[in-house]
Amino acid sequence: MIGDCDTLIRGALILDGTGAAGFPGDLAILDGRIAAVGDCSGWEAEELLEGRGLALAPGFIDVHTHDDWAVLSDPGMACKITQGVTTVIAGNCGLSAAPFLPHADLPAPFFVAGPASRQGFGSVTAYRQALGSARPAVNLALLVGHASLRSQVMGSDLARPASPAETIAMQEALDLALRQGAIGLSSGLDYPAAAEAPAEELVALARVVAQHRGAVYTSHIRDEGDQVLEALREALQTAGRAAAPLVISHHKCAGRANYGRSVETLAMIEAARAEQVVALDAYPYVASSTSLLPQFVEDSEAVKIIWSEPHPEMAGRWLEEIAAAWDLDQREAVQRLSPAGAIYFDMDEGDLQRILAYGPTMIGSDGLPGTGRPHPRLWGAFPRVLSRYVREQRLLSLAQAVHKMTGLSARTFGLSDRGLLKAGLQADLVLFDPESVEDLATFDKPEQVARGIEAVFVRGQAALLQGGLSASRHGRFLDRRDMAEG
Ligand code: ZN
Ligand code: CU
Repeated sequence: MIGDCDTLIRGALILDGTGAAGFPGDLAILDGRIAAVGDCSGWEAEELLEGRGLALAPGFIDVHTHDDWAVLSDPGMACKITQGVTTVIAGNCGLSAAPFLPHADLPAPFFVAGPASRQGFGSVTAYRQALGSARPAVNLALLVGHASLRSQVMGSDLARPASPAETIAMQEALDLALRQGAIGLSSGLDYPAAAEAPAEELVALARVVAQHRGAVYTSHIRDEGDQVLEALREALQTAGRAAAPLVISHHKCAGRANYGRSVETLAMIEAARAEQVVALDAYPYVASSTSLLPQFVEDSEAVKIIWSEPHPEMAGRWLEEIAAAWDLDQREAVQRLSPAGAIYFDMDEGDLQRILAYGPTMIGSDGLPGTGRPHPRLWGAFPRVLSRYVREQRLLSLAQAVHKMTGLSARTFGLSDRGLLKAGLQADLVLFDPESVEDLATFDKPEQVARGIEAVFVRGQAALLQGGLSASRHGRFLDRRDMAEG
């Protein structure tokens, strides 16, 4: 086949996103889509890019984000584009910008993505319009947060189950959001905003998810520590009873007493997969990050404060140090710092590797933009998988790792137009050097651009080229209904 195209990338190692081994080849882009993959030697191109020595993959899909607000307040999204991420799934952990009615006194995890996350939108359509005006550099697909639905229907009185009438109101709001293009429902049952919601409440909502083609239910389960098995069982049963596809968010076994238990959790997930659709995501670090809450401090070997509303000067300091300086115990110090956010060193490397290596595990950063000194996963999660777990530890092959960032993610979340290098699909692409790609963000210096990401294309347009971010931005709202129709 010979033709004309806008951009031709020549002689790269093609990793097509399916998990199949890479092969040397070319890729042609025309009108924002992939025109051809393979041998394009006869093609005429306006723009020619030499890919020799580099790997070419579908743009990475960050399946676990809290980027709902960052795409509006900081639409360049350098933290994601510089990792090769071209699509983010927002609205995770029960928290979405729409539909969301912010009250000043909402409990955690509300406002976990910094001051910008105090903004709420009454509908997915209103959010989508704001996104259209902001024109972010990345594409975004939106989950509807269970806690956000609660805020809309129950106000700030969230420390109780929803009444039958409130449950129906949430079902209606969720149904409307899904009809406006949202891709599913998320829950964060480990947080005060949803901890008192019984499983029944989630089953009722997951049943609405099951009525919409391609929609999924994602859950930050009720407990990731001592009760992780019970919490996992609850999530599997909730989705199973509703017949909704399930994604377990940022899977982990937190707390020293639970190190090693991913053997049991993964066995439970594997057994469930014989009966129902289950996937999971993880980030490549043994530290987590979220709101500062006593229950998470208990599970941790060390805690670093990333922001504090009453004590912004404590960002970047260890909780232990702060408590000592204030002559308080840690529990009292937590109270004085709150509302606040923290990094928790609460996981085992063995569990992390077992979870990353597990077939159905996708990569999601869970990065928290808009916070003072974020967890380095915000700027480093994807390159870190490619450097530490592919090149150094050989836990995954390059093709497997790319699959967990692209094809698997697109299939799980119904992003039918993306995630593979295949003629006709959207030209979301990343060109990187597999020998030098590396995360440079650290816990001390978290906002460092990764090395080795050479070029990024979003819908056929360069978002990053020769180390420079493009001024023009080409991300879109990804509407479930368009994708479900294929
Ligand atoms: Zn979460
Ligand atoms: Cu999250």
